[in-house]
Amino acid sequence: MAKSKTVYFCQNCGVESPKWIGRCPSCGEWNSYVEEVISGGSKKYQPSERQASVPRLVSEISSVDQPRINTHSREFNRILGGGIVPGSVILLGGEPGIGKSTLALQVAMNMPLVKTLYISGEESSRQIKLRADRISQGQGDCYILCETNLEAIRSHLEKVEPGLVIIDSVQTLQTDNIDSPSGSVSQIRECAAGLLRFAKESGTPLMLIGHITKEGSLAGPKVLEHIVDVVLQFEGDHNHLYRVLRSSKNRYGSTSEIGLYEMQGNGLREVDNPSEILITHHENSMSGIAISAMVDGMRPFLIEIQALVSTAAYGTPQRSSTGFDLRRLSMLLAVLEKRAGFRLSAKDVFLNVAGGLKVTDPATDLAVICAILSSDTDLPVATDVCLAGEVGLSGEIRPVGRLEQRIAEAEKMGFKKMVISSFNKKDGLKKQAGIEILRAGKVEQLIKMILRP
Ligand code: TYD
Ligand code: MG
Repeated sequence: MAKSKTVYFCQNCGVESPKWIGRCPSCGEWNSYVEEVISGGSKKYQPSERQASVPRLVSEISSVDQPRINTHSREFNRILGGGIVPGSVILLGGEPGIGKSTLALQVAMNMPLVKTLYISGEESSRQIKLRADRISQGQGDCYILCETNLEAIRSHLEKVEPGLVIIDSVQTLQTDNIDSPSGSVSQIRECAAGLLRFAKESGTPLMLIGHITKEGSLAGPKVLEHIVDVVLQFEGDHNHLYRVLRSSKNRYGSTSEIGLYEMQGNGLREVDNPSEILITHHENSMSGIAISAMVDGMRPFLIEIQALVSTAAYGTPQRSSTGFDLRRLSMLLAVLEKRAGFRLSAKDVFLNVAGGLKVTDPATDLAVICAILSSDTDLPVATDVCLAGEVGLSGEIRPVGRLEQRIAEAEKMGFKKMVISSFNKKDGLKKQAGIEILRAGKVEQLIKMILRP
């Protein structure tokens, strides 16, 4: 009889230990070790029939024999670097309810030339059918299987021979080789490794859906991120419609691309022109609003930053920010206070980024500062002005990258003026016909430049 042994796994990072430890020496997490039973069979995997491996010259290995699979979704193709690579394993992570299953089903149903198999361990086939009816746009060959057992899944895979497999979710999978419950580190690791072997041997691409913990990392072991080829994150605010698909790892493409989606009653819609929806066109100019020409990934778009500055009702002024880093906001407020002489320490400051998006591009600083100044002075920023610049600690406006793309996007959206740093090089810029470029070197100069009495 195979002997079974107990070992302890860190549920956060997947490190194995023969005894229980209070604090994981690898990731520093407290109380994360859980006892798991590994039956003796687990290590006795049949080694795959590998071809004898021989070293080959890079130049002799052909790379063009397998074209990428077109997903017929522009945003999804873009983020993968032009389609799915055969035999690749994609991990799609995101918070519960953000729309991972919807996105995966939509991709599966929208591939007319590829037989897809959607394996769900979370929902029944009727529930998936209801969702499919809601999305109701695919003409593809999409099969549904409700199964969580790895061995059963593998035998189905051999029969169906799909061109793309989607597993929703990897945390529900379970293999007979290991006794621990599904969702535990050893189960996830074994199941993912088994599926990975299948993908590499058969050349079938695989998409694994994974949940995300409170802290924002993929639940279960970090090892998953190491063994897969592509890691995608689906993020967004539950109260808003917009969802951003990002890749944090891509062995076959760039990680600086993003995909933008809008959640609608009938599934996810790809957003073609983000700037159009992220800016509200006000009839009269209002104070506290500034438009930033930002870049996320490789895509330039214009986004509205709103600020409200009011006298603090209580002794301690409040600072609140949605979609923008609060510490960065405090830093910008300190710069305004110290370098431009604005008395903001006794005022409440609220900041909001339109559309529920999170911005991390430092070029948004200038628009944030302008929105705050505009709200504080109650003078509106002219509606045809947008801004792009980083603000330094001494109040200087620093140059930002990808300026040509930003200017082109602003021009496309009909803006007449754009404020940039006076330190941005002049020679690199093409002459743009329809847009006037204003240059500012210090925060103080902004006030005269764009606030309209
Ligand atoms: P779901 O894909 O189940 O999320 P996840 O798999 O990431 O947990 O999506 C859940 C949310 O999406 C749900 O709250 C309802 C919403 N939704 C729509 O708004 N429109 C739709 O067409 C669908 C299918 C879902
Ligand atoms: Mg789901």
